[in-house]
Amino acid sequence: QTAKPWGGRFSEATDAFVERFTASIGFDWRLYHHDINGSIAHATMLESVGVLSAEEKAQIITGLEEIRADIEAGNFQWSVSLEDVHMNIEAALTEKIGITGKKLHTGRSRNDQVATDIRLYLRDEIDTIASELKRLQSGILDIAEREADTIMPGFTHLQTAQPVTFGHHLLAWFEMLTRDAGRLADCRARLNQSPLGAAALAGTTYPINRALSAELLGFDKPTNNSLDSVSDRDFAIEFCAFASILLTHLSRASEELVLWTSAQFDFIDLPDRFCTGSSIMPQKKNPDVPELVRGKTGRVNGHLISLLTLMKSQPLAYNKDNQEDKEPLFDAVDTVKDCLRAFADMIPALTARKDNMYEAARRGFSTATDLADYLVRKGMPFRDAHEVVGKSVAYGIETGKDLSEMSLEELQQFSDTIAADVFEVLTLEGSVAARNHTGGTAPKQVKAAVSAARKQLN
Ligand code: ARG
Repeated sequence: QTAKPWGGRFSEATDAFVERFTASIGFDWRLYHHDINGSIAHATMLESVGVLSAEEKAQIITGLEEIRADIEAGNFQWSVSLEDVHMNIEAALTEKIGITGKKLHTGRSRNDQVATDIRLYLRDEIDTIASELKRLQSGILDIAEREADTIMPGFTHLQTAQPVTFGHHLLAWFEMLTRDAGRLADCRARLNQSPLGAAALAGTTYPINRALSAELLGFDKPTNNSLDSVSDRDFAIEFCAFASILLTHLSRASEELVLWTSAQFDFIDLPDRFCTGSSIMPQKKNPDVPELVRGKTGRVNGHLISLLTLMKSQPLAYNKDNQEDKEPLFDAVDTVKDCLRAFADMIPALTARKDNMYEAARRGFSTATDLADYLVRKGMPFRDAHEVVGKSVAYGIETGKDLSEMSLEELQQFSDTIAADVFEVLTLEGSVAARNHTGGTAPKQVKAAVSAARKQLN
C-alpha cells in the first residue's frame, strides 16, 4: 500500500475493500488534462502572490507537463491506493521533482480542485457538443431545402391530417435543436466561474488572487461563495437536463425515421451503411442507428435523475457523495456526442421516396379542411362547412374515392355552394401552397425559413 497523502492522523492501513470502495481513479482519471491545467494556474497564482518562488513554480509546471506527456503516452501507473486523479498526479509530481511537489497543494483542497476540474472538463465537452449540434442542424437545413416542394401527409394522432412538405417537417426538427443549442449555451455561461480558492469550504488564509487563477483558466470570474463553490453540482444537472431534452428530440425524430423506413410507410431510405441485417431473416435491413438513439435516451434520462437524487439531501458543503457525480455526467457527455455524430452523419444521407409520400398524402382525405375553408370563403359558417365536408368524407369512404376524385355533381349532393373552382383547393399542391404565412408549410415559406435559419446558424 502506498502511503496516503492524508495519512498523518491514522494508525492503521485502510481496509483493502474500503480502499477500492472509496476510490474514484477508475473513472476520474479522465479529468487528468483539466486537473493539470488547474494545478498550473494555481501554481502560477501562488507564485504571483509570493507563496511560491519563481524557481518552484517553474519546477512544478515542468513536472506537471511531463506527467501529462507520460499519461498521454500510456506511461503512467494509476494507483487505486492513491484514490483519485488529484492525489495520483500530486504524488507523481513529488516523486518527480521532490519536496517542491509537496507545496503545490498550498491554499487548495481537493474540494475546490475537483469542482474546478469538472467545470473545465464540461466546458470543453460543451464546446465540442455545440459544434456537433451545429453540424447536424446545417445538414437538416440542406435536406429541408432540397425537399421544400416534397409533399407528404402531416399527422395528428398518427392519422393523416393535412398535407405538409417534407422540408417543413425537417424544419420542425431544426427548431427543436435550436432551443437545445440555446439551453447548452446557457449552461456553459452559468458554469463558467472559478471555484479555485474556496479550498475545503471556507476559503484560505494565504493572500491568494482568485481573479488571476480564474482568468488563467478562461473563467469569467471567481465564484461568489466558498461553501457553494465546493458543494453544488447544479451545472452538471443542468447539462444532463439539456442532454435529456436534446435526446428526447432526437428520439422523436428517430421514431419517425423508424416508422418511415418500414415497408408500411416506405417514405425514406437510409443508406445501407447506417443499417444492419438480421442473422436469420435474409431480407432484413434494420434502422438500428435511430433505434439505438431512441434507446439511449432512456439512459441519459436516468443520469439526470441520478444527479438530482444525488444532490437532493446533501447538507453544505462538500460530501463524498459528490464523487458519484462523475460517471453519470461522463456517460451523458459520451452518449450525447455519439448520438449527435450518428444523426449528423446519417440525416444528410437519407433519400425521400417522394412518390410514396405523395400517394400517402392523397389517401386519408388530407384536403378535407381545405374544402371546408373553401366553403367558408363562399360565405358558409365554419361549423356548417365542417358538417358538409364530413358527409362528403363519409361518402368517399363508402365509394372508395378521395375528395379530388369525385365529380362536381357528386360533391354538389352535399352543398350547392360547391362550384367547378373547388378542384384547385382539393389538390395537394394547392393545399400546401395556400398555407403561405410565417411558419406555414408552403414551399415558398420553407425556402424562406431555410435561408433565415442558415443566417442565424452562421
Ligand atoms: N475524488 C473526490 C471527488 O470526486 C475528490 C474530492 C475529495 N475530497 C475529499 N475531501 N474527500 O469528489
